[in-house]
Formats: sequence, structure tokens, C-alpha cells
Amino acid sequence: MLTTAYAPGKSILFGEHAVVYGRPAIAVPVTQVRACAIVEDAPRGQGISIRATDLGLTHRVGARVAANHPSHALQATVVNTLERLGVDRPLDLTLTVSSTVPMARGLGSGAALATAIVRSLADHLGHDLAPQEVSDLVYQTEIIHHGTPSGIDNTVIAFEQPVYFVRDEPMQLLRVRRPFWLAIGDTGMASLTRIAVGDVRTGWAGNPKKYDALFDGIGAIAAAAKNALSSGRIGALGKLMNENQALLQALGVSSPELNRLVAAARDAGAIGAKLCGAGRGGAMLALATAAKAEGVAAELLRAGAVGVIVTQVGGAVTED
Ligand code: PMV
Repeated sequence: MLTTAYAPGKSILFGEHAVVYGRPAIAVPVTQVRACAIVEDAPRGQGISIRATDLGLTHRVGARVAANHPSHALQATVVNTLERLGVDRPLDLTLTVSSTVPMARGLGSGAALATAIVRSLADHLGHDLAPQEVSDLVYQTEIIHHGTPSGIDNTVIAFEQPVYFVRDEPMQLLRVRRPFWLAIGDTGMASLTRIAVGDVRTGWAGNPKKYDALFDGIGAIAAAAKNALSSGRIGALGKLMNENQALLQALGVSSPELNRLVAAARDAGAIGAKLCGAGRGGAMLALATAAKAEGVAAELLRAGAVGVIVTQVGGAVTED
């Protein structure tokens, strides 16, 4: 028997970093990229082995592995899921994972892979896990990847819908009144979430007043963006993105490459643009109308992006 499960990537529209400090943030799934996990029954006595084809690694669950090795997070995801499912007998399974979500680009590659693993194991063993249960399990893996994750990545990926997220509060699904398009540009440089989050924490510890004011500003932008989304004010949304980018620059998490792509997108007619995710490298996103999205994407490539994903957020146009 063979069971396959998928999970999308994600992008943070508003509120990264401040969300770690309890301010609201908004994220959307990005379905153009996805992680895949395939579970197959294996010969008796094999135990559980994990094959990560993109990473070129094979790992037998239970074998010793260093905490910083990629197999560690994969193994922990399997072990936590089986524990949650109440499996206490030995299993013989082969789990094959792969992903088209670029790694270390703020697109949720780790959370997508973990979500696909949780879903595939639960399905294979005949369990139906609610999205919140999947999210909670993936959060455990996010702790391994990032240390102190806010929980936004596992939430938006497990629910696969736009979310308004406040740490330690029940998540809210977002109403998107009018569809809009995002061109997500990849700088080609790794964004190490743990490091960017750690640097912001050091800055905050040294000057809490300054950083709390920046977090408050970002949180207020995310709250205003929620209203703009639910009332279909796309122009307002773009302006809020530009304001959010200015505050992210003040936090010190942008980079020359991100700034260049943000400027190129605005010049090409984007309504707004900002970095997305932890920053320093990774990706940025530009908000555009259907008519402008492909032009913005082409301009991002000309300005040095190594890849661009164009994705639509929201469904059919709602008439007023
Ligand atoms: O993993 P990334 O690059 O999408 O960053 C996550 C967003 C942060 O707010 C920077 C961290 C967090 O845990 O929310």
C-alpha cells in the first residue's frame, strides 16, 4: 500500500518578526510550490526509513543523528506523529520526501515538508487529523528548525488558507474580498530564520523601547491590512506593504538585494512591495493587479531575481 500527501509553501504578507513578539501577522499559502511525502509498506523487519531525494539522504528512524543534521527534524516529525497517533507497535515503512519549495527563502520549506509527512503518515495509518492537530505537530518540528517560532508557518500551511495570526491565540481565517496577485521574487541568497530572529532579539534586548515601537508599528499595519483585505481595498494594501517594508528595514532585516528587488517591483508598477519571511536574503513579494503581475515578474528577473512565482490570492471578484 502507498499513500501520498502534499503541502504548499507560504508567504508572509504582513507582520514577520513582530509576530514573534505577540503582534498580529498575515500569511497566505503558495500552491505553486509544494512538498510531497509518500509512505509505503516495507518488508518486515526493515523498520522505518526516510529517503529525502532532494537532499540525497537516507535515514533509519531510531539511528543516532546529530541535532543539526537534516535527518534529525525529519525523524522527529515521524516520531512525534506516531506518538500522537498512539502507535506503539514497530512499523515497517519507507517514507520518501521531496519538495519544490525553495529552501531557506522564507517560503516555509521546513513546515511544508513536515506537514506532508504528518499528513501522509496519518492517512496511511487510517487516522483523520484536523488541520489544527497537524499544525500543532508541525510546530514541534519548527522549534527544531528555528528555536522560537511564532507558529505562523505551520498554521498557514496546515490550514492552506489566508490567516490572520496572533501567537498563542486561536487563528482566524481571513476574508479576502477582492482577488489580487503576488509576484514573489527570490534573491538567490539563503535566509537563515534562526539567525535573523536571533539578531532581532539581541537588538530588542539592547533597546526594548525602540524595538517595541517598531513591533507596534508593524502590528498596527497588519491589523489595518486585515480590514483592507476584507473590504477589498487593494490600493490601501499596497501602501501598507510599503510601510511594513520601511519598518523591516529599520529592524535591520532587509538587505541590498531585497531592497533592489523591492525598488524594481515598484518601478514596474507594483502597488506595493516588501521582503517576506525572516529577511537578510530569501524572498520579497510585490502586490500587483492581474494586468501588471507578469510585467512585474519579468522586471524582477531583469533586476537579478533567480526565480519568480506569480500567485493569485482570493477567488472571484465580489461585486459591491
Ligand atoms: O521562516 P520564515 O523565513 O518564513 O520566517 C518566519 C517569520 C518570522 O516572523 C521571522 C519568524 C516566526 O517565527 O514567525
